[in-house]
Order: sequence, then C-alpha cells, then structure tokens
Amino acid sequence: MTQDHAWFTHDRFGMFVHWGLYALPARHEWVMHREQTQVADYERYLRYFEADLYDPEQWAATAKEAGMKYVVLTTKHHEGFCLWDSKLTDYKITNTPHGKDAIRPYVEALRAAGLKVGFYHSLIDWHHPDYTIDVINPRREDDDIPQQNEGRDMARYREYLHGQVRELLTDYGQIDYLFFDFSYPGREHPNGGAPGKGREDWDSEKLMALCRELQPNIVINDRLDIPGDLVTPEQYQPSGPMMKDGKPVVWEACQTLNGSWGYDRDNDDYKSPELLIKMLIDGVSKGGNLLLNVGPTGRGEIDPRARASLAEIGDWMAYHDKSIYGAGPSEFTAPVDCRYTQRGDRLYLHLFSWPLKHVHLAGLGGRVAYAQFLHDASEIFFKEADPQAQAQNTSRGAEPEGTVTLSLPVRPPNVAVPVVEIFLK
Ligand code: GLC
Repeated sequence: MTQDHAWFTHDRFGMFVHWGLYALPARHEWVMHREQTQVADYERYLRYFEADLYDPEQWAATAKEAGMKYVVLTTKHHEGFCLWDSKLTDYKITNTPHGKDAIRPYVEALRAAGLKVGFYHSLIDWHHPDYTIDVINPRREDDDIPQQNEGRDMARYREYLHGQVRELLTDYGQIDYLFFDFSYPGREHPNGGAPGKGREDWDSEKLMALCRELQPNIVINDRLDIPGDLVTPEQYQPSGPMMKDGKPVVWEACQTLNGSWGYDRDNDDYKSPELLIKMLIDGVSKGGNLLLNVGPTGRGEIDPRARASLAEIGDWMAYHDKSIYGAGPSEFTAPVDCRYTQRGDRLYLHLFSWPLKHVHLAGLGGRVAYAQFLHDASEIFFKEADPQAQAQNTSRGAEPEGTVTLSLPVRPPNVAVPVVEIFLK
C-alpha cells in the first residue's frame, strides 16, 4: 500500500451496506440464485422499491456512533440492479417509485460526517442480457443453457462493466475504497454452461488501471482475480496475521450480523454484540480491519436489531477506541483468552474471559512503566516476577523470569470487554 492508503490500516473499522431489490423479498441477497427466479419475475420488485425511509444521514450517524470510520455500499449486487442513475441501463433506482439516485446523497452524507466513502460493485450480473450463464447463475439448472448463451457476449458485458465503473468513479467526487465482487475462474458447468469467470472476463488489468486513473488514491480489494491492495477474508477470522511470501499483508475481514448480507427478515442468527467486539479486537491484534455489514430494509432503514448491536459496539468503542485506531499486532505474545494490540509504546491487553485476581504477562519484565484500565484510567498494580520466590500458601512463586503480574479486582468492570492499557518503557 502507498502512503495515501495509510487511513485504511489506521481506521480499522468500517460499515458494509448491502442494499438492493433483494431487500424486498427479504430472504438473502442471493434469493434470485437460490430460488432460480426468472429475470422477468424478479424485475417486478422494481415496481415496489419505494425506499421511503432512506436517510443516508441516519446511516452515517449510525456508523459513526458505532465507531466506524468508513462505509461501503453496494452500488450494484449480483442481481444487477443499480442504485445510481446509470446511463447504461434502465435497471436502476430512478425507475422505481423511489425515483432518485441513492448514491449522491449517500456520498454527501458520509463526507459531511467525516467518513470515508466506499463502493461495493458486483462483477457478477444475473440481469444483464450479455452475461453468460454459468455454474452460479440463477438459470444454472435449465436444460437449454447452450441455447440461452447463444448471442450472449461477454465482450459487450465487459464494456458495460467498465462503463459503469467509469460513471461511479467520475460522477461522485473522491471515492476512497472500491470492493469488487467476485471472481470464480475455472468453475466448470456440468451441463454445457459457460465456465466460471475471472480476470479475462472482466479484463481486470484494464479495469484496475481505469480505477487508478480516475481515482489515484483509491483502495481496491483483491477480488478481480489479480492482486489488489488488500485481501478480504469473508465470514471467518484468520488464525494470525495474513501473510504472502513471508510478509504480512493488508487485510480486512467482512462479517455479517446474522449470516446474511441483504436484509433477511426471518433470520435471527445474530451474533452477540460482545462477540462482534471480540471479532474487531481479534482482527486488529492480527493486523486486520473489520468491515461489519448491515442490510437495510426495503424502506431503506437499518432495522432496530442491527442498530441495537451497533449501539452496543459504540458504547464499547466510546471508551476503548485507543486500542483500535492506529493500533496493530504486538511484538509480545498475549496470555490465554487475551488479545494484545499495540500502538507505539501503548500495549493494550484485552481480557476475553475474566481471571481470578491476577493475569501473568510473559516477556514484559523490565518493560512496564505504568498500567491502568482503559475505560476509566484507574491504576492497575503490577509486579515483576522474582524467580527465586517459592510458592507457599497464599504467596505466589515459581513464575518464570520476565513475567509481569497484574492485580485485578475480583469483579470485572462493567464493559463488554475489559482492556488494560500498559505504558511500555
Ligand atoms: C460474496 C457474496 C455476497 C456478498 C459478499 C460480501 O462473495 O456473493 O453476497 O456481497 O461476498 O463480501
């Protein structure tokens, strides 16, 4: 990454927003694929997309209160529907009852709130008449796929794709981040359909160059089937810093609240706010960002369940963001059930489970100047191990040299994840 991208690894926490026609069926953004819906049937949602509660200032406020620093909205998802007034298609928000471009007010609201502006853009398009039917297409099980593919021309689709990206990166001022989604080269269709799509189908090199030409500072992800500025683990937490050729790489985990990206009314599989906070911390301790998703309703609102989760994350962030922004992995190894993040000479110990009275920090001997709880700046006593000390009754001993032991109260502080801030010498 270049210097211009430094904001990305500093900010650590962003909001993903999946919003499109699929908010109306409200049963996952892949509903068209899952239910193998014909394009003509799916198009009916266009007539009902009113989005009367769409309020991007509210979205921005929700993100900001949660401690998020950037937002990434689906300009188009795999269904093909466009949230802006593209000149290259009629399948767009200006042809719904809502009737207005949704991207401009979104971009303006984020900027006004001091948030970085991101777009997600689907490479895949199940609506475009030139996009060939392959193994992940809604029509993948039809028995006349070769006939349906006759006359479909990926070269024309490619032009459409590049043309739309050009619109998005020309008409809305500075765009900080672009999340393309996704490539699946080499996936054969068992029944004569087109092969999976990758860099040749998108002309990824040229598309990437176009983005860099139009937006020299933009951060671009790695899903064009060529390397990008970051890697994007999806719905899992990596085991440690992500590496390429032995060197750590910039990465961002994208995660859902309930397993679905689009609004999914009957899906109650919500992760607890505490788990979400731990996922954010875990990522930063391994050098990664968290892009946490919400799927607004068809009316355009981030629903109360999502807002409640984000509000709890925000309560924690209000007191603990020093351990997140500008922080990354530590040179020290954290004790069990803990995560370290480090920012210069500040080491942050995140306690994922609460121990009895003491926590032992290996390798910190001679390095600790002071320690306190991060949320209230209350002092925490610490003691360096005496390797000669013998354990006897209530006297501690036999701790390895170089161990520093913190003394904690029996009851944890009333925060979702307690953090000790350690000032290193
Ligand atoms: C995927 C899915 C998708 C979601 C995305 C988020 O690859 O196709 O629906 O938008 O990842 O990362």
